[in-house]
Amino acid sequence: MAKKEEKETEESVQEKYVKAGKILQTARENAKKRIKPGQKLLEIAEKIESDIIEMGAKPAFPVNLSINETAAHFTPAFNEELTLKETDLLKVDLGAHIDGFIADAAFSINPSNDFAKLIEASEKALENALASVKQGATIGKIGEEIEKTIKAYGFNPIQNLSGHELGEFQQHAGISIPNISRNDSRKLEAGHAYAIEPFATNGKGFVKESMQSEIFALDEPKQVRNSQARQILEFILDNYDTLPFAERWIAKAKELKLSEFQRKIAMRELLKNKCIKAYPVLKEENGKLVSQTETSIFINEKEVIILL
Ligand code: CO
Repeated sequence: MAKKEEKETEESVQEKYVKAGKILQTARENAKKRIKPGQKLLEIAEKIESDIIEMGAKPAFPVNLSINETAAHFTPAFNEELTLKETDLLKVDLGAHIDGFIADAAFSINPSNDFAKLIEASEKALENALASVKQGATIGKIGEEIEKTIKAYGFNPIQNLSGHELGEFQQHAGISIPNISRNDSRKLEAGHAYAIEPFATNGKGFVKESMQSEIFALDEPKQVRNSQARQILEFILDNYDTLPFAERWIAKAKELKLSEFQRKIAMRELLKNKCIKAYPVLKEENGKLVSQTETSIFINEKEVIILL
């Protein structure tokens, strides 16, 4: 049988970002409709991740489900029992990638509607930030728009959390997009993708790291003695490259067949040797509430494309 030559149909970088954005948009809208109080956070996260995979993309990072004072970087453990409560303020931060080109988005929900204004503040801040990007604003000006909008609602932006550039297989690449006014006269550049993500709080506006970490990423892979650690490292390189992953993904990987004890020891070894790094769960420093809204954009010579 003769080999049929495939026509060169390599998708452009822009097409890959757009495709990742479309898939993530559907995953986000499905999640908005589906999430209800009483559900397990683990089920919510796994359903969103499997949705992304079914549509032909891969999760760019574990779905973050951060509740109330938890601002970011919480994802359920493999045996997580936590359920969503009516009065919870939940941030759902989700990402999809096509060949390493990432779309990153987040929304906030509060079933009891007690914190609608706090959610609206971050939504409106994102809307105003996007309008200023389209007008060619500087990075400092984008932060100023976010700060001004959130403060007009009587809340504070989180100063030590920011939006970011998206790189190929890099969740946080290059420049940061601040959530407060900064003296930064640079502009966003054509050919680059960015995530803009205002966080609003009824606290002072800072997060701190907690002791818990469920999300990790490759740091500097090197030889380790523990054979299970080597096995996990190889699995990470094959499946996630430099993108963040969850310990529950390692726990559930059929290829690995490790006991919980072996996995814990191996993960500790990888962290100690700096083969991987942890993303500690981030909490508002005084236990106050946090809302978040995020989207991603790709800029070309002619226009700003809002990916979702
Ligand atoms: Co982001």
